[in-house]
Amino acid sequence: MDEIAAFRVRFPAEVVEEFLRRAAAVLETGQLIPGTNNAEFELRFAELVGAEHAVTVSSGTAALEIALRVAAVEGRPVLVPANTNYATAEAVLRAGCRPVLYDAGLYPDLAAIGAAWTPEIAAVVVVHIGGYLTPELVRIRRWCDERDVLLIEDASHAHGAAVDGRRAGTFGHLAAFSLFATKVLTTAEGGVLTTGSGVRAAAARRYRDQGKADDGLHNVVFGSAWRMSELHAALGVAQLLGFEAILTRLDRLVSRYLDGIDHPAVLVPRLPGARCSGHKFIVTTSGAAARESLRAHLRACGVQPGKGVYDVPLHRQPALRLTDQGPFAAAEHFAASHVCLPLWHGLTDNEADRVVEAVNGWRYDG
Ligand SMILES: Cc1ncc(COP(=O)(O)O)c(C=O)c1O
Repeated sequence: MDEIAAFRVRFPAEVVEEFLRRAAAVLETGQLIPGTNNAEFELRFAELVGAEHAVTVSSGTAALEIALRVAAVEGRPVLVPANTNYATAEAVLRAGCRPVLYDAGLYPDLAAIGAAWTPEIAAVVVVHIGGYLTPELVRIRRWCDERDVLLIEDASHAHGAAVDGRRAGTFGHLAAFSLFATKVLTTAEGGVLTTGSGVRAAAARRYRDQGKADDGLHNVVFGSAWRMSELHAALGVAQLLGFEAILTRLDRLVSRYLDGIDHPAVLVPRLPGARCSGHKFIVTTSGAAARESLRAHLRACGVQPGKGVYDVPLHRQPALRLTDQGPFAAAEHFAASHVCLPLWHGLTDNEADRVVEAVNGWRYDG
């Protein structure tokens, strides 16, 4: 039997056709820099998320850095979860801020944010790990508003994810999505920033175009070459046209896992009222030994486990120089104990059932 891949990049035939049609038009017109495809992507993405404004950029990291620059928090400390991608803290550092880590496993929570809080903190970043939204998002936003602190969502994994019908990208003052190749919506490389503020959206557009003012002078903000090309935007629009169907397919696969996995040593995160994006399907075990045993068992059953999110928390990433922070018990436990099961829109029902069978058949007496 074929091995079940953790993830594949595949586009439905109608997406390929639409992209090729748009790409040909881009080449024929010579309009490579942001134009109609970028504009359409922004409108459709804002609609998808339910945000007032969306601004395309060159990467999720750029979207985060621009969000922080637009927030005008340079030189100040910013709260970042210990469990996230290197890029979250990297963007904070590049924006001239100091990352102060708070403890988090799968979900950021208010207790940990409150424990790391000091009055100097200028912004709080929450990360929707794997496309799962913390049920505390509305409370976290209220908490930030009460302290006049900006909430920034790193929604890099969370296209279409929602809590009580409200989608990721609308809870923070600003949000950043990645469109990197591994994401459920991708432009190969790319990102998009969402916000409810027209002023902030306009500032973000200026930042992404090397900070150019209307008269062409670079006298307003210190921006960079953070634009998205029309070819990349064309790929994004081609997917957005049928994206709800992709999300529905991912929902169905997630439900199959939720309904099927039944093992006393495998914890499955379940949140009533929440919809995850389908970027990752995450289960947790009791710790490192159990996790390695489950991963090895899955491989032996012909199931490739996915990459962790994340196996090493930020305070143990030497290049970030945050090693003096911590310890972070929740981040360490999550890093050591979680497993990502195969998930992508082309996974078949039969393959999902084989994954469930493999998980349920795991024997562990550690
Ligand atoms: C949580 C998180 N934040 C930020 C990023 C950065 O996105 P990009 O690779 O598009 O710069 C990623 C990338 O995978 C991510 O997983």
